[in-house]
Amino acid sequence: MNDLIKKLVEAYGPSGFEDGMRDLIRPEIEAYADEISVDAMGNLIALKKGDGSGLKVMIAAHMDEIGVMVTHVTKKGFLRFTNIGGVYPHTLLGGRVQFSDGTIGVIGCERLTNRSKVHPLSKHYIDVGATSREDCPIGVGDAAGFLRPFTTQGSRLISKAMDDRIGCAIGIETMKRLGSSPHDVYFVFSVQEEVGTRGAIVSANGIDPDVGIALDVTMTGDTPESMAMAVSLGKGPAIKVKDAGMIAHVGLVREMKTRAKEAGIPYQLEVLTGGSTDARSIQIANGGSAAGCLSIPCRYVHSPSEMVDMDDVENSVKLLVEILSKPLDL
Ligand code: CO
Ligand code: ZN
Repeated sequence: MNDLIKKLVEAYGPSGFEDGMRDLIRPEIEAYADEISVDAMGNLIALKKGDGSGLKVMIAAHMDEIGVMVTHVTKKGFLRFTNIGGVYPHTLLGGRVQFSDGTIGVIGCERLTNRSKVHPLSKHYIDVGATSREDCPIGVGDAAGFLRPFTTQGSRLISKAMDDRIGCAIGIETMKRLGSSPHDVYFVFSVQEEVGTRGAIVSANGIDPDVGIALDVTMTGDTPESMAMAVSLGKGPAIKVKDAGMIAHVGLVREMKTRAKEAGIPYQLEVLTGGSTDARSIQIANGGSAAGCLSIPCRYVHSPSEMVDMDDVENSVKLLVEILSKPLDL
C-alpha cells in the first residue's frame, strides 16, 4: 500500500486543481467499480453495486490539498500569495511549493524584527528564481501545493497532503478488498474540501445517499503540550462522535463500534473541537442522511510534514470493509 500512498501524497492538487489527482486515482479503481462518473465540479464517483438488500452508502475522501495562489508578482519577480484552505504562517518559512507546470519556489518573508513572532501571510512571498516580472514563469491565479517527499520512519508515514490522500488510499484499498456487499456503495473522491467541503455538497446532492461516511484525518492529543484530545497515533482509527460541524448519527456510530469489536479491530472515539469534514455536507444534503466519519489520527495537520501510523491506516481499511460488507441496522 506504501507505493500507492507515496504516489497519492506527492502528487499536485490544491483545491480547485484536482485534475491530476483524478487521473491518478481513476486507473486504480476502474477494475473494481461497476460504474464511474465525474460530475460538473470534478468529483470522481465510483459505484460498487450491492446485492439489492441494503442501503445507498456514500464514502467520501477528498482529493484536494491545501495550497497557495498567486495574487501579485512584484517588479523583481517575487510572488505574493493568498491561502487555499487552512494555511498557517508558522508552517511556511523555508518551505517549498510546486506549481502545476513543475516550477518550484521557496517561501521567504520580510525581515523579522522579532524572531519569536511570525509574520502574517501577507508579508510572505515565493521566490521562483525570477529576476523580474517579465521573466517570471508564474503569474496571478497560478496555484501551488507544498513540496515534501513521502518518507517512512518505522510504522510512521510522513508527507505533505496526508490530509486527505491517506483517506483516498483507504477508499481505494477498500474498493479492492470489498467482496460482496448488501449495499450500493458510492466511493466519492471529492474536490474542494479544504475550502468548505464544496465538492461533497454537490456529490451528496447528486447521489442522495441513505448513509454517508467521510474518510479524513483528525488531530491528536499525544504530542508535548498539545491540546487535550483523547486520540493518539497508532491506537486505531477514530470513530467520530462530534466535531465543530457535525454530530455523527448515533446509530451509525454504534454500528461502527460493534463491527470493530466483533472483528477485534482497535478503535478510538473522536470529539474534535475545531474543524469538520465532508461528512457534514453529506449529512445535510437533500433530505439528510445518517452520516459519520472514520478518522485517521494525524499529527501536524496542515503542515508540510503530516504524520500518520500505518497500523491505523491498515485498521481503517479493515474496519471499513467490515462496515460495508454487513447490513446496517440504524
Ligand atoms: Co484539511
Ligand atoms: Zn481533510
